[in-house]
Amino acid sequence: MKWSAFFTSSIGKKLVMSLTGLFLVLFLIVHVGLNACMFADFFDPTDDGEMFNRAAHFMGSNWVPRALEIGLFAFIILHIVQGYMVEVQNRARRGVGYAKQMGNKGSKWYSRSMALLGTLLLLFLIMHISHFWVPSRITGLPEAHYNPEHHDLFAKMLEVFQGNPIIVILYLIGCISLAYHLAHGFQSAFRTLGVYNKRYLILINSIGLGFSIIVPLIFALMPIAIYFGWIGWEN
Ligand code: HEM
Repeated sequence: MKWSAFFTSSIGKKLVMSLTGLFLVLFLIVHVGLNACMFADFFDPTDDGEMFNRAAHFMGSNWVPRALEIGLFAFIILHIVQGYMVEVQNRARRGVGYAKQMGNKGSKWYSRSMALLGTLLLLFLIMHISHFWVPSRITGLPEAHYNPEHHDLFAKMLEVFQGNPIIVILYLIGCISLAYHLAHGFQSAFRTLGVYNKRYLILINSIGLGFSIIVPLIFALMPIAIYFGWIGWEN
């Protein structure tokens, strides 16, 4: 079978979904870990986002993360395009629908709603990239108080979330969509890669469930903490 035929076959598409999805899981680990540096300000109010800004500066100025960022955007686009193609294929196969609707007995609602959850995430990402990535890489950010060579991305976060309940709610909807998308996607990726052994499946399902709760929860705490003033400028 030719490569082009493989990647347009249904197993080829699922394989691309699982590999790009697992790469995005790795990105989320780095992203949530780096962003969690902003909570240093909660424990030491004199931090004023310095730890977070330093970490963001390292990621923005080092060529390895910058090169990976190009791969990240390519994988996000591939994941979205293939995702919609799998959805179209599934709908065509289902035709007029099943004779008997199984509801939650056949599968969980979020497993059947991956395209909808993915679409909500896409809308979230468009808003999110315009909030942070565009100023950080294109339109520019103010300089950090402790070092003029560093960007004050922390100040940008305060600007986006402080006094903006609608934006905070939209971010929370994004985090909830992420949680359900991961709850199915994480274990589904391993099944596609051929993990069927019962013992490994229990382990993977447990890690997947933990990941899909903990990571979106930490992300959700960020706009909440800024909105309620748990972190911010010292005075
Ligand atoms: C809800 C809390 C979140 C906050 C406060 C946050 C904050 C940020 C910030 C400050 C940046 C810019 C980084 C830089 O330019 O150095 C960024 C970039 C990005 N974020 Fe988030 N993020 C959050 C959640 C998410 C989620 C849930 C996703 C994915 C589903 C995501 C995906 C991205 C992507 C793709 C980029 C651009 C790539 C990059 O700069 O590395 N973020 N985020």
